[in-house]
Amino acid sequence: MSATTASARSAGKAAEERARAAVRDGGAPPAGAPDFAALLRQDPEIAGVLLGEGARQADGLQLIAAENFTSPAVLAALGSPLGNKYAEGYPGARHHGGCEIVDLAERIAVERAKALFGAEHANVQPHSGSSAVLAAYAALLRPGDTVLAMSLPHGGHLTHGSPANFSGRWFDFAGYGLDEETGLLDYDAVRALARERRPKAIVCGSISYPRHLDYAAFRDIADEVGAYLIADVAHPMGLIAGGVAPSPVPYADVVCATTHKVLRGPRGGMVLCGARLAERIDRAVFPFTQGGAQMNAVAAKAVAFAEAATPAFGAYAHQVVANARRLAAALAQRGLTIGTGGTDTHLITADPAPLGVDARTARGRLAAAGIVLDTCALPCAEEDAPSPGPPYKRAPRRSGLRLGTAAVTTQGMGEAEMERIADLIVAALREDGAVRAQTAGLVHRFPPYPDRA
Ligand SMILES: Cc1ncc(COP(=O)(O)O)c(C=O)c1O
Repeated sequence: MSATTASARSAGKAAEERARAAVRDGGAPPAGAPDFAALLRQDPEIAGVLLGEGARQADGLQLIAAENFTSPAVLAALGSPLGNKYAEGYPGARHHGGCEIVDLAERIAVERAKALFGAEHANVQPHSGSSAVLAAYAALLRPGDTVLAMSLPHGGHLTHGSPANFSGRWFDFAGYGLDEETGLLDYDAVRALARERRPKAIVCGSISYPRHLDYAAFRDIADEVGAYLIADVAHPMGLIAGGVAPSPVPYADVVCATTHKVLRGPRGGMVLCGARLAERIDRAVFPFTQGGAQMNAVAAKAVAFAEAATPAFGAYAHQVVANARRLAAALAQRGLTIGTGGTDTHLITADPAPLGVDARTARGRLAAAGIVLDTCALPCAEEDAPSPGPPYKRAPRRSGLRLGTAAVTTQGMGEAEMERIADLIVAALREDGAVRAQTAGLVHRFPPYPDRA
């Protein structure tokens, strides 16, 4: 061992011991921990924004499928002095000094991610889900390579070949779709397209597909045509952690995910892979596509991974799915058409057309009633009138509603509340003026941060 390595190791050990002693001594907040009173004094305008957003989140029904309420512990890590630290590189091999303590955070986050998902390698630095996908492409592909992914009108993400995104500009994407009658993935059609296009990689994952993916089938198709398999499980990653959705880890060459959404961590991304690709993935994240990692977010990811490893999180994930199933059934009973006839996950797609409302109008009426959700493309042949705005925001074909149960389940709502939510949704679509107050009445019984309510 060189003298420099030995001294770095002993500095790291000393730092670790200091950190552990601080915890034993009683947990006073670190210097520089968030001080809301200071913000209020210094910048009331922005303090007001924080207060307003907190109230907005607590006063409405948050049904955006990609959102959740992180724990106070995750928020504490996010708002910590680790946000001040520059840490380009990886633990033990940084381009900046003073990284002994933040190295600990990253090592802990990596170990927890590997254990939680059973992966040989984890990179917890991606700033977002999109950055994770970019790193996967950077590791495996060259500009111009052919890639198969779910087509955008059927639920692919922007990073799956949108012409408005780097992916569509730099790679030759071919989109596979859903059966327009059933809304289900047709694996034979994916195989036929793969045989025809001979892609370098196949991406599986979606922003709105409510069913489990058959990763073994995707692996088989990828093997047949000699392609890499990239699983983009930004949405179901929390369900995978909670044991209520299948894991792509044994099948995919690279797994990309967000750490927010059902997983309930900070906004951010992560990449998992086998030992064989570890170095390529790490180099693709830093220095190829990112600079210094956000060490406060890395620490917050570690906190979230530990939370997700608990039995309580498993129970939460199961409840998320039970709630989504009940909500989908309740909406169907009240006349909406549910994509694929139901859901395996936290996510539901619904067409309000049978109630005489198009999806964009529906979203507006629901927002007025304090019910917050998204529109999404529906896999069907009919075209809506083209919507205004930039192409990536335009509904490519016909749009429906996309809603999810991750946030309301974190608030403690169960299946009885899902029936109530379905009633509120239908009343709001009918422009019943009493719904706003009824929505408030429901959500105020389930504050997202009860200790602060
Ligand atoms: C399938 C999929 N991939 C990638 C992303 C991108 O994540 P981010 O918004 O963090 O960049 C999302 C976000 O919703 C997603 O659903």
